[in-house]
Amino acid sequence: MTPVTAVAQPNIALIKYWGNRDDALRLPAADSLSMTLDHPSVEITVDHSPALAVRSFGSDGTERALNEKMTARFATHLELTKRYLATLGSNAIPESVSVTVRSAIPQSIGLASSAAVFGCLAKAYAGLIAPKVNLTLEQQSVIGRLGSGSAARSLFGGFAALDAGEGGDIGASQARAIADEAHWSLHDFVIIPSVEEKKVGSTEGHAVAWTSPLYEARLEAIRTRRQRECVDAILRRDFEKLRSVTEDDALDMHRVMETSAPPLRYLTETTHAIRLGIEELRRGEHLELLYTMDAGPTVHLLCTDASRERAAAFAKAQKGCTIFETSIGPGARLVS
Ligand code: DP6
Repeated sequence: MTPVTAVAQPNIALIKYWGNRDDALRLPAADSLSMTLDHPSVEITVDHSPALAVRSFGSDGTERALNEKMTARFATHLELTKRYLATLGSNAIPESVSVTVRSAIPQSIGLASSAAVFGCLAKAYAGLIAPKVNLTLEQQSVIGRLGSGSAARSLFGGFAALDAGEGGDIGASQARAIADEAHWSLHDFVIIPSVEEKKVGSTEGHAVAWTSPLYEARLEAIRTRRQRECVDAILRRDFEKLRSVTEDDALDMHRVMETSAPPLRYLTETTHAIRLGIEELRRGEHLELLYTMDAGPTVHLLCTDASRERAAAFAKAQKGCTIFETSIGPGARLVS
């Protein structure tokens, strides 16, 4: 076998994944839905190796030291991948591998690098075993999910849903395509108020979701209506409907976070000032703009082509913030 290289991008969730029914297997408690971005990219090369060896580099070529926790996460992910492939009757994955990550994603800026990394790794593993077994995209999404729940969605370009599925089987939850990147030209201005390390990562956060008294109602809302409304809005390119369900869901997730034990407060005063600024701007000018926030203070300002210039001007006017401009993009792919 020869080394295999894959490339992938992060995605931004419109219906947020928050909480698992099984934390170890990352079986989500509810469906989620996202838009894959066109950059920044992660590139991963995998090869056979006598022992697991993981190295990570920034876009300028400098090595990024991996702490023990991160190295252990790759080791656990390889074991889970073997377990999943065994359920498909395959032992094609090598006993050990070398993994070289080259990431253009700046650290701790509120762009989910774990989604891009494990989405990319799933694609690379699929390429490595392809001579023996051909995995569908949905099966590849399971491998992504086993490293980071949101990574399952980065296997697909455009809009993708991660279905919670049912039961405790390792492959029970898979992602699927809703519409590809040619369906609707949307953009995401990532407005980053702070580049500080976040205090509680998503993995730890998922584990306490159930302690919030608001969590059951959240699961019910997604199950009975929100996910379906979001899919409909995308298929019809109905921005107003997409705005309303996306913002409801993001604010609802943050209410769950803030009422869990311990409470997780990711949004800062600056976050709220930015999102209120977006509300004011679109009220005055009837612009197609929406906001959403993940597990951090970063605001994602999504817009259509028609509102892009105004969104750019708004983003650039936010004092003290770093801005990234991204658009809808393709899913993870093999490059060699
Ligand atoms: C708020 O996928 O980062 O961004 O499975 O532990 O890696 P792990 O969690 P992760 O959680 C994502 C949380 C979110 C919402 C989302 O992307 O759906």
